[in-house]
Amino acid sequence: MDFTKQLNTDKLPKHIAIIMDGNGRWAKKQGLLRMAGHQEGTTAVRETVEACAKIGIKNLTLYAFSTENWNRPKIEVRTLMKLLVSSLKKEIKTLMNNNIKLNAIGCLKNLPEKAQKELQEVISKTSENNHMTLTLALSYGSREELINCFQEINKAIQDKEITVEQIDENTIQKHLYTKNLPDVDLLIRTSGEQRISNFLLWQIAYAELYFTQTLWPDFRKEDLVEAIVNYQNRERRFGKTSEQLS
Ligand code: IPE
Ligand code: IPE
Ligand code: MG
Repeated sequence: MDFTKQLNTDKLPKHIAIIMDGNGRWAKKQGLLRMAGHQEGTTAVRETVEACAKIGIKNLTLYAFSTENWNRPKIEVRTLMKLLVSSLKKEIKTLMNNNIKLNAIGCLKNLPEKAQKELQEVISKTSENNHMTLTLALSYGSREELINCFQEINKAIQDKEITVEQIDENTIQKHLYTKNLPDVDLLIRTSGEQRISNFLLWQIAYAELYFTQTLWPDFRKEDLVEAIVNYQNRERRFGKTSEQLS
C-alpha cells in the first residue's frame, strides 16, 4: 500500500524538524555499545529523508550534534564525527537520486577539518537540487546562533546599514543560520524526552510539538506518517479564535 495515502497533501507541513534522540538507549537495550546505536540511527535517517521527499515535504531539518554534545566522552565525539564523514560519502547517492539539496547549520568551524571538507563537497554537489532541502544541525545550539545573530546585527548598525529602530522580526530571521528556511511547522522528538535541548528556539515559536516513545534507530516511515497525520488533525489558531478560522 502507498504509505502516503493517509495524508492530506493540501495540508503538509512546509518544514519538519526532528530531534533524533535515543540512540544510546537503543544500543543499551540490545546489549551493544552506544556507537552501535548511532550507526543504526543512520538507517532511520535515510528512511526518513527518503519518505519526506516522497511525501513532498519541502524542508527537513535534523538535529545531529549539539553544542552541548561536545561535552560527551572524547571517544564518542570522535566516532560520531567519523560516522558523519562516512555517511556523507555514502548518502550523496540518496540525495542525488531524490533531488535533495544539502544544507548545514551550526558552528561548523568547530567540526574536524575532514568533516567540514566532506560537508562542503556534498553541499556544493547538491546545490542545484530543488525537490527538498535537507538541513543538518551540526555543532548547533540555538543560543550560540542567537549570539551570532545579535553580533551580526550590531555590526550592520555600526556600518550604518540599518538603524536600531529598523530592527524587526525579519531582521532577526535574516541573521539566523536558518535564514533561507521557513519557520518550523512540526517538531518531532523521539525517545520519550519532552524537551527542546537548545534547538531552533526562535524558529519553533509556533511549531506543533510531537513526542514519541520510539527510539531514533527504530523510527520508520510509518512513524513519520503517524506524526504528520497527528499534525494534520490539529487546529493551528495562531492566537485567533476557532470561529475566526472557519
Ligand atoms: C541521539 O541519541 C544522538 C546524539 C545526540 C548525537 P543519544 O546519543 O542522545 O541517545 P540517548 O539519549 O543517550 O539514548
Ligand atoms: C539533543 O539530544 C541533541 C541531538 C539530538 C543531536 P541530547 O540527547 O544531547 O539532549 P539531552 O541531553 O537529552 O537534553
Ligand atoms: Mg539523548
